[in-house]
Amino acid sequence: KNIKIIEVKSEIGAGTRGASLGVDAIKIAALDFMSNFFVHFPTEEIETENKLLFEPIESPYAKRIKGTLALYERISKSVADTVKQNWFPIVLSGDHSTAGATIAGLKMARPGSKLGVIWIDAHADLHTPYTTPSGNMHGMPLATAIAEDNEDNKVHEVDDNTAKMWNALKNIGKIAPKVSPEDIVFISLRDYEKEEEYLIKKHGMKVITTSEVRRKGPENIARSVFRYLSDCDMLYVSFDVDSLDSSISKGTGTPVSNGLREREAEDLVSKFMQHRKICCFEITEVNPTLDRENLMAEIAFNILQRSVNVLMMN
Ligand code: ARG
Ligand code: MN
Ligand code: MN
Ligand code: MN
Repeated sequence: KNIKIIEVKSEIGAGTRGASLGVDAIKIAALDFMSNFFVHFPTEEIETENKLLFEPIESPYAKRIKGTLALYERISKSVADTVKQNWFPIVLSGDHSTAGATIAGLKMARPGSKLGVIWIDAHADLHTPYTTPSGNMHGMPLATAIAEDNEDNKVHEVDDNTAKMWNALKNIGKIAPKVSPEDIVFISLRDYEKEEEYLIKKHGMKVITTSEVRRKGPENIARSVFRYLSDCDMLYVSFDVDSLDSSISKGTGTPVSNGLREREAEDLVSKFMQHRKICCFEITEVNPTLDRENLMAEIAFNILQRSVNVLMMN
């Protein structure tokens, strides 16, 4: 596969500062490993909206949503163009809100095809401005992808301007929903709110726990995910580094215990990369300011490098 790297050094969707440095931290990890990995691939850097971090919050239940919308426009276009030109986009992003835009870009490139999403994350990221406990947009990308408001569980009233921008996020590329809930697989999900649980139950979404990965092994898990998503035409893997156990994921904004081991994550992701329908991979949420010795970025780089080795052979 012909790989292109799309860098999104943004952190406006996160609640803790520093994730916009994550992409550069991964490149530093490569240099520390004396790897010339990054010279091999064409790279596009998406313009950010990080200046908003210095301005007052306008929408408390969807913080910096205006910037998120601008990013959705840019990222989705870049991903769509990349795929249309038959390149394989690898998205390196600061916070996970960008994944909603990545998904939009994949669907915009191939509107007629059915997209399956493999979401490796401690979190479900299924909140909406009506349910969010934090107002952070990185907790919402999958709700934009399935075009869900979760009005049944409304906990906040949202101002008209925020509601308008939220609708624009769901309708980016003029296709909504982009993914059916049954075509999403959560792996290592373990920290979610009841409003998200409601959606998972309502739609019967597939969840694979850390202990299931440990019991059955990455190879069997990958096989069962492929079987579950066999009617999809394109597969996208979104890897939030907080899927890794908190003992090794201090360098991310929202670490959670009972997560994956480094080896499990690496084996799992590289198995997914072997599938012929795989069309995009994203790594997100590395925050080197919270870390020691750049450990999180080193782990992310190892996973990236092994994945790319597999992709290059296919
Ligand atoms: N559910 C929580 C929230 O909405 C945490 C989300 C964490 N998301 C992430 N991409 N790290 O704030
Ligand atoms: Mn996430
Ligand atoms: Mn997460
Ligand atoms: Mn299906």
